[in-house]
Amino acid sequence: MDSMGTLRRTHNCNELGSDNVDQEIILMGWVLRRRDHGGVIFIDLRDRWGITQVVFNPEINAEIHAKAHQIRNEWVLAVRGTVKPRPGDMANPKLHTGTIEVLVDELRILNSSETPPFPLDEDTEVSDNLRLQYRYLDIRRPEMANNLIMRHKATQAIRNYLCNHNFLEIETPMLTRSTPEGARDYLVPSRVNAGKFYALPQSPQLFKQLLMMGGMDRYFQIVKCFRDEDLRADRQPEFTQIDMELSFVTEEEIITVAEGMIAALFKATKGIELQPPFKRMTYDEAMRRFGTDRPDTRFDLELIDLTDTLKGCGFKVFNSIIAEGGVVKAINAKGCSSFSRKDLDNLTEYAGRFGAKGMAWIKIKDDEWQSPITKFFSPEELAAMGKALDAEPGDLILFGADTSAVVHPVLAELRLELARRLNLIDKEIFNFMWVTDFPLVEYSHGEKRHTAVHHPFTAPCEDQLDLLESDPGSVKSRAYDLVLNGNEIGGGSIRIHRKDMQEKIFSVLGINAEEAEEKFGFLLKALDLGAPPHGGIAFGVDRLMMVLTGSDSIRDVIAFPKTQKATCPLTEAPASVARKQLTELSLRPDWE
Ligand code: AMO
Ligand code: AMP
Repeated sequence: MDSMGTLRRTHNCNELGSDNVDQEIILMGWVLRRRDHGGVIFIDLRDRWGITQVVFNPEINAEIHAKAHQIRNEWVLAVRGTVKPRPGDMANPKLHTGTIEVLVDELRILNSSETPPFPLDEDTEVSDNLRLQYRYLDIRRPEMANNLIMRHKATQAIRNYLCNHNFLEIETPMLTRSTPEGARDYLVPSRVNAGKFYALPQSPQLFKQLLMMGGMDRYFQIVKCFRDEDLRADRQPEFTQIDMELSFVTEEEIITVAEGMIAALFKATKGIELQPPFKRMTYDEAMRRFGTDRPDTRFDLELIDLTDTLKGCGFKVFNSIIAEGGVVKAINAKGCSSFSRKDLDNLTEYAGRFGAKGMAWIKIKDDEWQSPITKFFSPEELAAMGKALDAEPGDLILFGADTSAVVHPVLAELRLELARRLNLIDKEIFNFMWVTDFPLVEYSHGEKRHTAVHHPFTAPCEDQLDLLESDPGSVKSRAYDLVLNGNEIGGGSIRIHRKDMQEKIFSVLGINAEEAEEKFGFLLKALDLGAPPHGGIAFGVDRLMMVLTGSDSIRDVIAFPKTQKATCPLTEAPASVARKQLTELSLRPDWE
């Protein structure tokens, strides 16, 4: 192995071009591939920036050529050489440095490498586990590297934007009390306070509110949050928020600042000029038309409500569901009447995964409506359905019937699946939409009490306060979410800033005065010591970057993410610890 000695890198592997011809330069990087045709050896040298072809010619320097012979993929090299134009027909238009190559005068081997566990030079499908186990190799691949570079540009643009708009970046504790964002906490035992635990923050929610009470009227932080929940493609146990909070503001001001920030971010990362204001939709409309509070509106396939149309109809399944207060909704899959029995069984199975007990369908053919269920409906009922659904020959109607709590998620997922199968999604579009007027609380049958839809510190709409006790489920909150292409990328609200209102909401949530004092006494005290009106929002950086980079999973935009089981294959966390450590923490394991 050679040392770098006096060599200093003069250029990166992506910047040399015809302007540099005949210059002496020094490059350092990894061997992406080596082509050895028995004579001249060509090596593609790669670094974070790109690739340059370096050449070892036995006729020019036999000794270096012999040394180059032993080099393998992923070895780390320093080369000193002279930039030369490539012979005309050898230029590589796909490479930024494709018009030149470097004739090597000095070669130093800085490190060797074993054969990597997966090839880094092509788009080989590599298992996620292997990629995570050797994440440093995965990051050498341009796709991952570019995602991380883009993420850096994004957070940089956000910092610049918020600093230019008078926001202060302030850190908040990682070792804290649990904040109720609705997930399970990650707990950290305290050594010096035996039997007591810190919680890692699910978000800095209460601290940012306390900062407003401290007069820091515009706060932001790019901050890690921790939630122990079931993981999916868009969820990680630790993830990053762009968290912000403002004093003396309305929803409109927060939305305007947030839109400006997102626009600055898109300009800096993609060169795209977004045109705020973004579209808005109420929660009720989103649920009615799309069955979800994060609708992907890049395509149609909307949900059509047939409950009224089919009241008292001849099909017993639907009839009894409607009679019991349920709903019947349908999607008109335009032009899909050619779906085979297998396609339909497949879709039914898919719907079942989200809780559907069945998936009735009707194929609209030229001369008849084909379906096992058409015989149950009168001609008038069929005609009314056809009209509501705008059904034409060639269409396929898919039904969901149950309580709306079942039908909505089922049809929302079916709608997405159909769009994927029918290729209806334009991947080039960035479709932003604010969803507003969320319910303040929802009833949890499991917990037998109302729970906050957003979090317990969100303010109710002022004109509905009289309903708080009599019909809390009907009260709307001052919360808003930002949805991008069907992903919830941000959410926030105007907060409660008066003690009496906060106490009232705690009581609506079934938190009695004693518990409120025990858990949130510090907040109630602060609300009583001159808390200004305030509100804010937090964006999921990982989800934003996932959409921005066109990735399928947020794992692809996180340097060292966790698996579905919340493990890290690289470090093998979580791991066992020494008995002594547990004893120090006053923990007595029962898993041994
Ligand atoms: P919320 O819980 O909606 O709001 O979180 C804000 C945003 O964070 C992202 N997000 C996640 N991203 C990846 N993995 C997860 N497990 C995960 N959970 C949430 C989402 C989401 O929109 N304190 C409030 C904000 C406020 O009221 O200001 C909060 O945390 O993109
Ligand atoms: P059945 O009479 O139970 O065999 O159902 C007839 C058709 O209605 C089948 O295609 C079922 O998939 C469908 N079906 C049954 N229950 C529901 C439901 N809750 N929602 C939608 N379709 C259903």
